[in-house]
Amino acid sequence: MAKPLNIGMIGYGFMGRAHSNAYCTVGNFFELEYQPVLKAVCARDEGRAKAFADNWGYESVETDWRTLIERDDIDAIDICTPNNLHKEIAVAAAAAGKMILCEKPLSMNADEGEEMCRAVESAGVANMVWYNYRRVPAVTLAKNLIDEGRLGKIFHYRAVFLQDWTISTDLAQGGEGLWRLDVDAAGSGVTGDLLAHCIDTALWLNGGISQVSAMTETFIKERMHNLTGKVEKVGIDDACAFLARFGNGSLATFESTRYARGHKALYTFEINGENASISWDLHDLHRLQYFDHGDDSIVRGWRSVHVTDGDMPYMDKWWVPGLQIGYEHSFVHQVADFIEGITKGEPARPTFRDALETQKVCDAVLDSARTGQWTDTGAAI
Ligand SMILES: NC(=O)c1ccc[n+]([C@@H]2O[C@H](COP(=O)([O-])OP(=O)(O)OC[C@H]3O[C@@H](n4cnc5c(N)ncnc54)[C@H](O)[C@@H]3O)[C@@H](O)[C@H]2O)c1
Repeated sequence: MAKPLNIGMIGYGFMGRAHSNAYCTVGNFFELEYQPVLKAVCARDEGRAKAFADNWGYESVETDWRTLIERDDIDAIDICTPNNLHKEIAVAAAAAGKMILCEKPLSMNADEGEEMCRAVESAGVANMVWYNYRRVPAVTLAKNLIDEGRLGKIFHYRAVFLQDWTISTDLAQGGEGLWRLDVDAAGSGVTGDLLAHCIDTALWLNGGISQVSAMTETFIKERMHNLTGKVEKVGIDDACAFLARFGNGSLATFESTRYARGHKALYTFEINGENASISWDLHDLHRLQYFDHGDDSIVRGWRSVHVTDGDMPYMDKWWVPGLQIGYEHSFVHQVADFIEGITKGEPARPTFRDALETQKVCDAVLDSARTGQWTDTGAAI
């Protein structure tokens, strides 16, 4: 019989739903020593929090995250709030001795991230950041193929994350649903929101980034602010493109925008090595494209590997070969790995310290865009 892992979740928006689904599902598919228990959800509006709790089966509701953190019956705090609250909640939760699962990006900037790392490390509490794309089976397979050395020396890394939902000038900034356009809540625009995912995946697959050269643009300079009721300057980057050098000598391009008409969540990466290349596309997330130069030349070409067989990462836990899984399963895998981590005493990655590396790259990207100079990331390479 699995032991309870009592979850206190803060925020019930998009990620609140994705994580709740993962907590409910994980024990049905993975044999784990702990079973997540939906102990409490916290949000400021009690009625809406109660409705959410009833829908997902949370036992109780809090309206102040500080009260939630003080509760003795909570083991782990899950931070699903806008970015500007991550640090304050995490530092308080660590001081209270709670395990912490924090949404990405870790923090508003690297200084905040460092403070969060120190807090969890001095408290000795388990901690993890929800960079969930690592646990899409095709992406995990890419990692395994690279670690096996199949690509050989890596020359190029290329990533994009494209959306189109902020093109309208009528869209306001700030408040519910639109906090991503408010620099005070989000910290940055596409850099921290979308490129942070691309950077995390890249650091995991290809090692540290030493230097970046970036440009950003804010296409719509002023928007109504929902919290002040006034038209205010927009402080986020609407688009960002940067060049990067990895510690292993490879070169990279990264691009993200919310102004690519026709694209909703086009996250793709391609990696070119001396022996083989890999590419992946979130819109076709259960496939990994693989080109092996070692193949017989008359049949050499890009293969589209359908990542569903039981010998593929995580897939023995799901259906029969040929039947695919989706976006939400990456969160289930992350919870499973977090629980394995606390069982074995080996932290599930990325920890806060791992995610701080992404934060350093994001900071360097924004600095480089401001100065127009190549910028050292100061990250581990
Ligand atoms: N891993 C991913 O792929 C992914 C995807 C989307 C968002 N995120 C991250 O998840 C976090 C939340 O994003 P979202 O899309 O779920 O946002 P959202 O706007 O859908 O939800 C945010 C939630 O935070 C709550 N909240 C705000 N202030 C609060 C406070 N003071 N106390 C308690 N609750 C408060 C809101 O009521 C809301 O329920 C962000 O850090 C975001 O970057 C990650």
